[in-house]
Amino acid sequence: MERRAFLRALGTSGVALGLGGGLAACSGDGDDGRGGGGSGGGDAARPRAAASVKPYDPDVPFWEQGNYASVEETDITDLEVTGSIPPDLTGLYARVGSNPPTGKAAFWFLGDGMVHGLRIDRGKAQWYRSRYVQTTPHKDGKELSDYTAPGHDVNQSNVAMVHHAGRFLSMGEVGWPYELSPADLSTVGAYDFDGKLATWMTAHPKIDPATGRMHFFGYWFADPMLTYHVAEPDGRLVHSEPVDVPAATMIHDFAVTDRDVVFWQAPVMFELEPELLATGFPFVWDDNGPSRVGVMPLGGPASEIRWVEVEPFMAFHGFNAHRDGDEVVVQVHKQTSAFGPEGYLLPSYLSEWRIDTSGPQLTVKESQLSDVYQDMPMIDRRLVGRPVRHGWCTTVDGKGPWGFEFAGLNHVDLQSGRDDRWEPGEMERAGEPFYIPAGADAAEGEGWVMSWLYDRTTDTSSLGVFDAGDIAAGPTARVKLPVRVPYGFHGLWIPDA
Ligand SMILES: [Fe+2]
Repeated sequence: MERRAFLRALGTSGVALGLGGGLAACSGDGDDGRGGGGSGGGDAARPRAAASVKPYDPDVPFWEQGNYASVEETDITDLEVTGSIPPDLTGLYARVGSNPPTGKAAFWFLGDGMVHGLRIDRGKAQWYRSRYVQTTPHKDGKELSDYTAPGHDVNQSNVAMVHHAGRFLSMGEVGWPYELSPADLSTVGAYDFDGKLATWMTAHPKIDPATGRMHFFGYWFADPMLTYHVAEPDGRLVHSEPVDVPAATMIHDFAVTDRDVVFWQAPVMFELEPELLATGFPFVWDDNGPSRVGVMPLGGPASEIRWVEVEPFMAFHGFNAHRDGDEVVVQVHKQTSAFGPEGYLLPSYLSEWRIDTSGPQLTVKESQLSDVYQDMPMIDRRLVGRPVRHGWCTTVDGKGPWGFEFAGLNHVDLQSGRDDRWEPGEMERAGEPFYIPAGADAAEGEGWVMSWLYDRTTDTSSLGVFDAGDIAAGPTARVKLPVRVPYGFHGLWIPDA
C-alpha cells in the first residue's frame, strides 16, 4: 500500500493500532480481517442502534467516538452495587488508557494517560476516581508530536501499570514511568530508578514470583535499540545491558521463564520518514525485516542471547513462557502480519513456540492453540515464567457494527483446550481481565477476574467481578457507575498489605 493511502486509512477507518493496547484488529469469527483492517464495514453493517444510542460514524476516527471518546476527571463515592463483591477483597483496581483532553488525537494510543481506579474495602465499593497522569506533555498541554522526540519524562504514560517495591507505576511505550499514589491516583512524578534508568521502560515488565525481581526492557529507534533491565525486590536497578538486534522494530512485550529471558522481534519496522513520523506512529511492515525469537539467560548476559528464525508474524502480547527440560515454551497472541498490505492488524490467535535449546543452534516448533480471536492476556501472576493451566483474555470484534471494539472475556484452559467465553453481545463490551487469587494459598485459577464493562444502552460503565472459574456465567457482582470508563489498555489490582 502506498504510504499516503496508509496514512489516510489510519485517520478515518476503524483500524486498531497496537502500540498502546497491543490489540489485533480482528473481526468476528470466520473473518480473516484482511483488506484494511477492522473498519465498521459497509452500510449494511451500520449499527442497529436504539434511537437513544448514538450510531457509529464511519467518517470519524473510531478512537474519537463511542466508548473510546475522552471523559473528564471524576470522583464518585455513592456507588451502586449489584450482586456481591467477595468480602475478602480489599484494595485498588486501576487501569490506564488514552484520554486526550481535546477529545482528538492522532491515534487511539496517543492520548494522555488517564487512570481509572476503584477502591474496595472488605467487599464494599468505596470510591471510583479517574485522574490524568500528570506527565510533562499533559502539564504542558502538548502532544508528543510537539516535542523533538519522546523519551525521559516526555511520554503519555498511558499503556500499563505495575506495583513493585512499594511503588505504583504507570508506563508508556517509551520513556520513564510515572509514580502514582494508590491512595488517590495523584501523580508523584516521573521515576527514573534514582537516576539509574539510562534508557526507557517499556510497558510490560515481569516480576519473578520466586525472587521478586522485576525484569523489563526499553526499546528505541537508535542504539541501544533494545536494553534489558533488572530491578531488585527493593526497587534498586542493578542491571542494564544492551541486547544486540539488527534493526529498530516495535517490541511491545517479552517473556521470562525461571531461567530465561525471551524476546521476539517482528518485521514491524521503525522508519524515519517525515510523513510517518508526523503520524506519531512511524512503524510499517517490511517483508525483509526480522522474524525471530531470542533466548538469553535470566539476569544476563545478553551476549549469550541466541536467536531462531520463525514464520513472519507480529505478536504484541505474550501469554506466558516456561521451561520444559531443554525446551523454552512461549505462548503469544500471534498474527500473520501487521501494518502491511494484508491489513494493518490481522486477527491474533493464542499460539506457541517450543524452542529446543539443547543443540548448537536453537530449533523451534510452532503451533496455534486456539481459534478464538483474543488478546490482552492475563495469567495467575504467582506463576509468571512457570507452567500455567489457566489464562483470561479479551475477545475482539473488529468488524462489528460499532467498528473495532473489545467484545467479551475468555477463560483459556490450556490443559483441556476448552474455552469458556462470556460474550455479552454488541450492546455490552468488556475490557482487559485482571485475575485475583482467592487467597495466598489458593490454587491456580481459584479466585476472581475484574474488568471494566461498558453498557452501550446507558452509555455507562461498571466494574464486573467474575468467578475466574466460571467466566461464561457473567459477572457475579457489578459496581455501576453513572459515567463511562473508556476502552483502555492494561491495569492491575493492588491489595492492601
Ligand atoms: Fe500492551
